[in-house]
Amino acid sequence: MTSTGNHGIPSMSKGNLGKSWQLRTENNIEIVEKFGACNCDYHKACGNNGFVWDEVKRDFDWHHTGRVNIAHEAIDRHAVSWRKNKVALYWEGPNKEHAKYTFAEMKLLSDKFANVLKKTGAKKGDRIFVYLPRIPELYISAMAIAKIGAIFAPLFGGFRAEAVRDRMNDCSAEMIVTTPDMKRLGIDPIRHEVPSLRTIMICQAPEGFKYGEGELSYDAEMMYAPEEHETEWCHLEDPVIMHYTSGTTGKSKGVIHVHNAMIGHYITTKWVQDLRDDDVYWCTADPGWVTGTSYGIFGPWLNGASQVVYAGRFSADSWYSVVDKYKVTVWYTAPTALRMLMKAGDDVVGRYSLKSLRYITSVGEPLNPEVIRWGMKVYDLPIHENYWMTETGCNVVANFYSLPLKVGSMGKPFPGVQAAVVDDKGNILPPGVPGNLVLKPGWPSMMRGIWNNPEKYKEYFRIPGWYVTGDSAYLDTDGYFWFMGRVDDVIKTSGERVGPFEVESALLEHPAVAEAGVIGKPDPLYGNIIKAFIALKPGHEGSEELKREISDFVKAKLAAHAFPKEIEFRPSLPKTRSGKIMRRVLKAQELGLPLGDLATLDDE
Ligand code: WT7
Repeated sequence: MTSTGNHGIPSMSKGNLGKSWQLRTENNIEIVEKFGACNCDYHKACGNNGFVWDEVKRDFDWHHTGRVNIAHEAIDRHAVSWRKNKVALYWEGPNKEHAKYTFAEMKLLSDKFANVLKKTGAKKGDRIFVYLPRIPELYISAMAIAKIGAIFAPLFGGFRAEAVRDRMNDCSAEMIVTTPDMKRLGIDPIRHEVPSLRTIMICQAPEGFKYGEGELSYDAEMMYAPEEHETEWCHLEDPVIMHYTSGTTGKSKGVIHVHNAMIGHYITTKWVQDLRDDDVYWCTADPGWVTGTSYGIFGPWLNGASQVVYAGRFSADSWYSVVDKYKVTVWYTAPTALRMLMKAGDDVVGRYSLKSLRYITSVGEPLNPEVIRWGMKVYDLPIHENYWMTETGCNVVANFYSLPLKVGSMGKPFPGVQAAVVDDKGNILPPGVPGNLVLKPGWPSMMRGIWNNPEKYKEYFRIPGWYVTGDSAYLDTDGYFWFMGRVDDVIKTSGERVGPFEVESALLEHPAVAEAGVIGKPDPLYGNIIKAFIALKPGHEGSEELKREISDFVKAKLAAHAFPKEIEFRPSLPKTRSGKIMRRVLKAQELGLPLGDLATLDDE
C-alpha cells in the first residue's frame, strides 16, 4: 500500500514505545501507518495465514483436564498461579470510594457466593438476572453464576419495571440480584407478574432494611457461606451468558452464549485489545451490554489482566482522573463518550497525566474521523475502531494494533472469521459496492440460539450459508470494511441498542396515545436520539407538557435510557394497508429524503 501526501499533521513521537506514526491520505482515505508490534502473531495470523481456532484451545486448562467452566479459566486458574496476588479488579465508586481484589480474592468471593446461590436452590441451567450498578458484587455474581453452571443474564441498570418483567418472563427466570434502589424502581412494581421469580438477592442493603418474602441479604448470606466450592463442570456447548437485545420487531430477545465463547473472548481481547500482562485495562462499557461482559469481565480475566471498573458518572474530569490514578494503559470505549470528551475540550486533558495510555479502542457506532484526529492531537494516539454485535459474542472486524489504520474504517476481519459483503441472494459483491455485511458461521463465540425463539434465530441465516448482521457495509481493495448503516430499524443511541417496537409498546400504554412510531434521528453527539411520532386519542391536545409527561412515562416504565428525547404529534401516522406503521416513511420525512418507493416497501 502506498500512501501519498502528509495530511498536515506532522509525524509525532509515540513516547514510551518509541514508534512514530503519520496521518496520510490516499484517494481521500486517511491512513495511520503501522502502529507497532502487537501481542499477536498478526503478521502471521492477522493475515489469516495459518490461523486455526483449535490452536487457541491449548491455552485453557480444560484442554488438558477436560473440565470446562468459563469462570475457572477467568479466575480460578489464575488464583493458583503466579497471578494469585495480582489485582484482578481495581474498583472505583461514584464518590471516589475504591477497593481492589486479587485473583485469589475473586476466587474466594465467587466460591462463597456460588455456595449462597446453591443454598437458595439455584442450579445448573437456571436463569439468574443481575440487575446491579457496576459494584464489585456484579463481577462476583457473574463468576459465581457461571461456577454453578447457571446462566448469567445481566440487565442494564437503566431498565425499569416493564422491561425487567418482559425479560424475566421470557426465560422464566428464577432469581435476580439487585440493590434496594433498583428493586424499588424495577422489580417491586412487577414482582407479582413474574411467577417464576423465587429469590431476590439484595446487595448493599442498609441496616434495618425490611426483607420481603423470597428476599435475601447478600451481605448476611456471604458472612456465613462456606469458602470451599466445587465448580460445576460443563460442556463447551452449555449456555452461560444471556444478553437481552433488540431487533426491529417484537420485544427484546435473549441471545444465548455458551462456555465455548471463551475461546473468542480470550483471543480477541488478546489481539484486538493487545492486552499484555503488565497492562492496566479499562473497558468503559456497562456489563448490561455485551461489550461490558465480553471485554469488561470475561475477555480481560481470561487473559489474566488487571482491569479497572469505574462506577461513577461520566465527566471528562472523572474519566481522565481514572486513567491518571490507575495508570490505565489500554482503554476500550465508545464514540459517544469520545465525542463528549472532545466537546469537553483540550484544557481538561492537560489537567491529568494520561502518559500511561498506550492504546485506545472504540466500538458500538461509527467513529468520526475528526474524533480520531482530535485523539491524535490530545492523547498522542490514534483510536482504533472495531466492530461486532451482541450476537457475535466477540470482535469480528477490527483495526489491529499492528496494521495501518484507515481512519473511518472498521478494519479487517479477525483471523478465523470470514466476512463478506453480499446482495440479498448471497452473491459476493466486489469492493466498493455496498451490501449486506455477513459472516461465515463457525467462530467460537457466535450465539447459539435465541431463548425460546428458534424462528428468530433462523432469521439471522436468511441468506443461505451466512450469518446476516443486519448492517450494510462495503469492502475496499485492501480488505478493510466500511460501515454504511443498519438495514433494519434498530436504533443505536449513545451506542446502546434500542428496539423501536419496545418503545412504541410503552408509548401505547399511555392513556393519550393512539398510535406511535419510533425512529432514530441522527445526532452529532449521541449518534442517534430516539424520536417518537404520536397520534393522540380524541379529546387529547398535543402540548409541551404532554410531551414531557409521555417521555417521563416511558422513562419510568421501560427504561431511563431508552425514552423519546423528541416527540412530534401528528394527526395520523403513515401505515401499510394492514395497519403497520411505516417507520421508514417517518424517517425519510424527518431527514428530508425522497420517499422513493418506500411507501410500498412495507406494504407486503
Ligand atoms: C450493532 C451491534 C459493539 C459491540 C457491542 C454492541 C453497531 C458496532 C460498530 C462500528 C459502526 C457499529 C452495528 C452493530 N456497531 N460496532 N465499529 N461502526 N457501527 O453490540 O448492542 O448488539 O450492537 O452496533 O450496527 O450491528 P450491539
